[in-house]
Parts: sequence; C-alpha cells; structure tokens
Amino acid sequence: MSAPVLLPLGPEDAQEVHALESVVFAEDPWTFPMVAEELSSPRRHWVGVREEGVLVAWAGIALGVDADVMSVGVAPAHRGRGIGRALVEDLLRAAREAGAERVFLEVRRSNEGAQHLYRAVGFKEIGRVARYFRNPVEDAVTMCARLA
Ligand SMILES: CC(C)(COP(=O)(O)OP(=O)(O)OC[C@H]1O[C@@H](n2cnc3c(N)ncnc32)[C@H](O)[C@@H]1OP(=O)(O)O)[C@@H](O)C(=O)NCCC(=O)NCCS
Repeated sequence: MSAPVLLPLGPEDAQEVHALESVVFAEDPWTFPMVAEELSSPRRHWVGVREEGVLVAWAGIALGVDADVMSVGVAPAHRGRGIGRALVEDLLRAAREAGAERVFLEVRRSNEGAQHLYRAVGFKEIGRVARYFRNPVEDAVTMCARLA
C-alpha cells in the first residue's frame, strides 16, 4: 500500500475539518469556532489526508518545548491502512523540527486502538486523570514521547 500523502491544513479547511470531526467525535465534537481558531493559531502544525479531493483524516499539535497533540482522526471507512500512524509520525517530526523535547497527549482510557497506535510510535503512559473527558465522562490516560 502506498504511503498516504499528507497536506498542510489551514483556516480555509475549517469547514471540512469540523464536518469530519463531527463524524469521528460525534459524541463531543469541537464547535466550528474552536476548529477555526485552532487552524489559525500560531505555533500549531495541522495536517490532513485527502482522497479524491475529500478530507478523510486530520491531526494537529501545539508546538513548544513541551508539545501537545490536539487532535487525530481518520474517517471510519479509511481506518486500518496506516493513515493514523503516518499522521502521528508527522506530528512528531514537526515537533522535533520545532525544538520540542517532549510530546504529551490525553486519550480515553477505553480507546485501546489509539493507545496502541501511540505506543507504536514511541509514546509511554505516564499517568491518568480522573474524569478528564466528558460526553461520556471518562478518565484520561496521559502519554508522553521523549524526542531525542
Ligand atoms: C485511532 C485512529 C486515529 C487510528 O487510525 P488508523 O488510520 O486506523 O490507524 P493505523 O492504520 O495507522 O494503525 C496504526 C497502528 O494502530 C493500531 N490500531 C489502530 N486502530 C486500532 C484498533 N481499533 N485496535 C487495535 N489496534 C489499532 C494498528 O493495528 C496499527 O498498529 P501496528 O502499526 O502495530 O500494526 C482511528 O481509529 C480514529 O480516528 N479513531 C477515532 C478517533 C480517535 O480515537 N482519535 C484519537 C483520540 S486521542
């Protein structure tokens, strides 16, 4: 299978990202203003995958010495083909290039698929936060990747 082609995302993609986010995180999606602000913010790296022009996956990270993964999602019909892994690897590359030493994220305790993906690219569990997520309320697993 050929590697997915990753494209930078910006404010002009906010509508599409919001529509996909509303499918992937149907229970608690970001609002359109939240998505639009994120895609316009400085010190962010947002990236997506299009198939036949349609956005099927996106991911973003807040850059800094300590970087934070903001969001990662792949449309259900496009999962299991390495797109999620390619996106997260690209976030790590961007963080490293921007001088990050550590990358953090929070993931739902029940989301074993995402935790598997994050471990596969170098994240380790460093703690848990009770009731971090809402809709439904759930504990977070906090993970960290140390960049060489
Ligand atoms: C998590 C998600 C981004 C994975 O995307 P994907 O394109 O299917 O992932 P990939 O095909 O790149 O798989 C990467 C690795 O994770 C594993 N993986 C992915 N989904 C999995 C699942 N549901 N169960 C077990 N392992 C899973 C794959 O087996 C693969 O492991 P390997 O490299 O050891 O073979 C996607 O399922 C998704 O969008 N889920 C809903 C949103 C979400 O949970 N986002 C993360 C929130 S923190």
